[in-house]
Amino acid sequence: MKILAIETSCDDTGIAILEVLPSGEFKVLSNVVSSQTALGKKYGGVFPAMAKRAHQKNLVPTFIEALKKAKLLKTGLSQNFTAVKKTDISEILEREPELEKKLVSFLKKYKKPDIDLISVTNGPGLEPCLWVGVNFAKAISSFWNIPIVAVNHIESHILVNFLENSEIKFPAIALVVSGGHTQIILVKSIGKYEILGETRDDAAGECFDKCAKILGLGYPGGPIISKLAEKAQRNSSYVGLNTKLPRPMIGTKDYDFSFSGLKTAVLYADRKSKVKNKKYKQEMSAEVQQAIIDVLIKKTMKAVKDFKAKSLILGGGVSANKELRNQMQKKLAKELPEAKFFVPTPNLSTDNALMTAITGFYHKKNTVDWKLIQANGNLRISK
Ligand code: KG4
Ligand code: ZN
Repeated sequence: MKILAIETSCDDTGIAILEVLPSGEFKVLSNVVSSQTALGKKYGGVFPAMAKRAHQKNLVPTFIEALKKAKLLKTGLSQNFTAVKKTDISEILEREPELEKKLVSFLKKYKKPDIDLISVTNGPGLEPCLWVGVNFAKAISSFWNIPIVAVNHIESHILVNFLENSEIKFPAIALVVSGGHTQIILVKSIGKYEILGETRDDAAGECFDKCAKILGLGYPGGPIISKLAEKAQRNSSYVGLNTKLPRPMIGTKDYDFSFSGLKTAVLYADRKSKVKNKKYKQEMSAEVQQAIIDVLIKKTMKAVKDFKAKSLILGGGVSANKELRNQMQKKLAKELPEAKFFVPTPNLSTDNALMTAITGFYHKKNTVDWKLIQANGNLRISK
């Protein structure tokens, strides 16, 4: 079967096509991400209204590219292009007129592709952005009469690990660390989850981004801090910062996090610091990164031990961080060598639609009438 997936939960527009062979093997036909990083860089962050507009503009061109890469783009008028069908599209995309125009001209030019299921992220995320993807998915589901399933973005950050690792054993502990979330989740099996703990304020990725802004490093903060930290660590004279940053909640008995105090500590340290040269920025970056990593590792390892997990799964944009991956893997190998470690390749850690496709596959029995699908910015993977 071939699954078309649409992901617009934050600022990147993702469209992927995944084929699941009769043997159960996954074959990636295409995975296209139209990044809005340039916009984010210009304005120093993500703004929902601006991101929503960019999704409206990018969805159809991204769709065309994904179909082309998958060799599923065929010119020729859709047989079912009638005035009635067009009215449906106009109604669904009532709030996205630019997208409607682009989609209608696409549908006049190209035939229905060989797709068996549509999978779309309906939450959590930025609600205006989620709605654009959801409405786009509804429009093509209705027009081409293709079954549709709505999937959870956090679950997708976990299940993307199954693309290359069907042998993941349960119970597993998943640490999902992104720009909007930091959660430790008990994975009893695919589809059965329990949130054990989460951040009480800022997410880990948000902390990276805000600290980078304070230090005047640009956007998105995670990859920039990680690069600068690497430079500090390569310098043989580097022994760590004189003033250590706090590791908030590292000693508490729960699985919760808090990162806003760390950001404030960086702000005060930065105000106090007289020299703000390259070396200072590199060393601050290394300390910020290590403070975040220390807390993530401590709480995650506690959960792995407490629940006797057979696997530890990482996911979300921050799991692209090289130091986090390496240090977490080493700690697990040392303290619990029988547990296995899984992390996506870095380009699948950050938002993409392939993760949405694989999640749609595991929930292929949950298709619903497209009319019933709603975006929900606060959707949760468990109660
Ligand atoms: O999962 P994601 O792509 O989007 C959300 O669902 O939020 O995560 C984005 C977050 C951003 O905060 C970004 O700074 C962070 O992931 N990130 C990183 C790295 N690459 C992306 N953080 C630390 N190190 C990285 N290499
Ligand atoms: Zn994400």
